[in-house]
Amino acid sequence: MKTVTCLLVFLMLIPKVQAQNYEEAKVPAYTLPDPLLSLNKVRIKTKTEWETTRRPELLRLFADHVYGRSPTAYSDIKFTVTNENKVAMEGRAYLKEVRIDVTQHQKTVAIHLILFLPNRVSGPAPAFLLINNRGKENTDPTRATKSDFWPAEMLIDQGFAVAAFHVSDAAPDDKTTFQNGVLQLYPDLLAADNGMRTLGAWAWGASRAMDYLQQEARVDKNKVAVIGHSRGGKAALWCAAQDQRFALVVSNCSGTGGASLARRQFGETVQRINTTFPHWFTPKYKQYGDNEAALPVDQHLLMALMAPRPVYVGTAVEDRWADPLGSFLALKNAETVYALYGVGPLPSATQPQVNTPVIESRLGYHLREGVHNLTRYDWTQYLAFARYHFEKH
Ligand code: GCU
Repeated sequence: MKTVTCLLVFLMLIPKVQAQNYEEAKVPAYTLPDPLLSLNKVRIKTKTEWETTRRPELLRLFADHVYGRSPTAYSDIKFTVTNENKVAMEGRAYLKEVRIDVTQHQKTVAIHLILFLPNRVSGPAPAFLLINNRGKENTDPTRATKSDFWPAEMLIDQGFAVAAFHVSDAAPDDKTTFQNGVLQLYPDLLAADNGMRTLGAWAWGASRAMDYLQQEARVDKNKVAVIGHSRGGKAALWCAAQDQRFALVVSNCSGTGGASLARRQFGETVQRINTTFPHWFTPKYKQYGDNEAALPVDQHLLMALMAPRPVYVGTAVEDRWADPLGSFLALKNAETVYALYGVGPLPSATQPQVNTPVIESRLGYHLREGVHNLTRYDWTQYLAFARYHFEKH
């Protein structure tokens, strides 16, 4: 009997497995929405037209159809330093742990920010803020545990401040409890079929961390990068699209709903992500499962919303689920918007070879060997990218 049940379960799973496409030849023909053609068919020719017409239109479309609308206000925000150590990392860094209390409708949620400042930098330092979607041990403020997911020492030694908060502070990553974070403050968004869900909440959390970083004297507020891996990388892109105080964005292995094109239906599909993670996107996004062509946007337009700021997309060969080529193509198809600012294209017409990072371009990219992860190799490229663009270009 047991064997029969196992066999049945196995057979039921087969169609699902087959439904995930990993073959380039099976990518359907598709047409991407033109970044420079507004909904009412007006051609965008200047950066002013982009900024006043198309950019706001795209932000609205992404909010209404993909990530959900974000809160527009809160009644109070308060920063409390809950712990500090001026000689952390053997004296190389100043640790500050800051509780960010955000209040709206008489309710308060707290985002816990961990921040290391480089002691050898006398003026304000550039910074990386990680949206941490993995275990909290990855961003251990005591440094008893060290992780390549957030190699804080490496950043400090290169003169960068390094910050992180955990996604669960903004919204638990769980389909039954996700509303027990910031959405408690915004019941209207929770009730709306175009209100934000967890990805929107995480992006919002990063912006509240930015509120603190803006008034931290030892951080250069014009040189703050936001970075995230996978689901965190989706949130990092949506965050930087909306919040232009972030000067640079890095999205690592973010795949569907992040850097990769939905219309390619390669690896994880819109249908699949909405089924497995119904709490990530706005309810309306579910309409586009097996119906990607109807989406008024695709992820190249999210890249375009970064313009003219530097954006870097990291991918990995064995991470086919996240469609490395589709991520490259999203970047590539944002070039026309960067061109409005006189910013040159990604200097490669086709997907760069393995382990050949493109750093000296505002549209940065790499395909590294290996699996789905955020590694020391990735961080090495992201630091080089940030140094290049923050220092000289
Ligand atoms: C799953 C999910 C992806 C996501 C990833 C992660 O694989 O399908 O969309 O990016 O988890 O966050 O690690």
